[in-house]
Amino acid sequence: MEPKLHTHPAMVLPSPPHAPPEPDPLEQELRASLVAHRPVPDADFDSLLPARPRIRSASFWSAVEVAQTASRWLTTAGATRVLDVGSGVGKFCTIAALSTARLVWGLELRAELVAVSRQLAHRLRAQVEILEEPMESLDVSRFDGFYFFNPFAEHLMEPVERYDDQFPASPDGFLRDVSTVERWLRAAPLGTAMVTYNGLGGRIPLSWKVEKSRLVGGDYLRLWVKRTASEDLSDALIELNEHLVSARQLAGLIRGKDPRVRGNPLVARLVAGFS
Ligand SMILES: C[S@@+](CC[C@H](N)C(=O)[O-])C[C@H]1O[C@@H](n2cnc3c(N)ncnc32)[C@H](O)[C@@H]1O
Repeated sequence: MEPKLHTHPAMVLPSPPHAPPEPDPLEQELRASLVAHRPVPDADFDSLLPARPRIRSASFWSAVEVAQTASRWLTTAGATRVLDVGSGVGKFCTIAALSTARLVWGLELRAELVAVSRQLAHRLRAQVEILEEPMESLDVSRFDGFYFFNPFAEHLMEPVERYDDQFPASPDGFLRDVSTVERWLRAAPLGTAMVTYNGLGGRIPLSWKVEKSRLVGGDYLRLWVKRTASEDLSDALIELNEHLVSARQLAGLIRGKDPRVRGNPLVARLVAGFS
């Protein structure tokens, strides 16, 4: 008599070669809420991040409410091709892409964060493209909206305050990056929109007007739109918390040896040429 062969069913019935993975209930719920513009607790969103970027989220990445508001303002201003300059883990990009059902671009120099942001967008099925090129050589003419969450501040932080030691921080790097953005802003076509959170960090040409401003999540969010074609090069605006200060005013304070800016070589270089 033939011996009976006890085969496990899985051995004889292989699973289909490309069976889609089971959808994750949290990812589905987060995605549905963001598409419907509903509030999402930051702790829930951040639970999709690996430990290190999750722990630093409150300091380094936009809160969900901030990203939702910034994205809504950019849409209201007519922006359809938005770039987040310094996109980190892609929190703004992912939220904006789901809120608008559009492709949103990010620019990030830390390879680890580029990988995290691509993974995050993939998990929430958001249309996000992360660029990894130097700012100076980036062609920004294809974008009509920008988001900046004070991306260059790390240049000026103490080493212990920085996200990690992978950032090539230096005062010269700060001035180089804010000058690059200033060049973009001067060259931008009329109607180009920009949202800054906690300040852009650099000089904003007078051709740009603040159209909305709100304290959200402890810092100022501002919508700027380029409204005049002719450039007045005699002055520029600098965001200092709730204040908008003119570069000429700041230069005057330095010349007058005002104690609040005295001896600050960086501020002096930022306003050099304005008098
Ligand atoms: C404060 S985080 C903001 C992240 C993101 N925009 C958000 O709102 O969640 C600033 C990010 O800008 C990146 N960054 C700073 N300078 C950059 C540069 N020149 N090119 C690309 N990324 C830069 C940093 O690595 C960091 O991830």
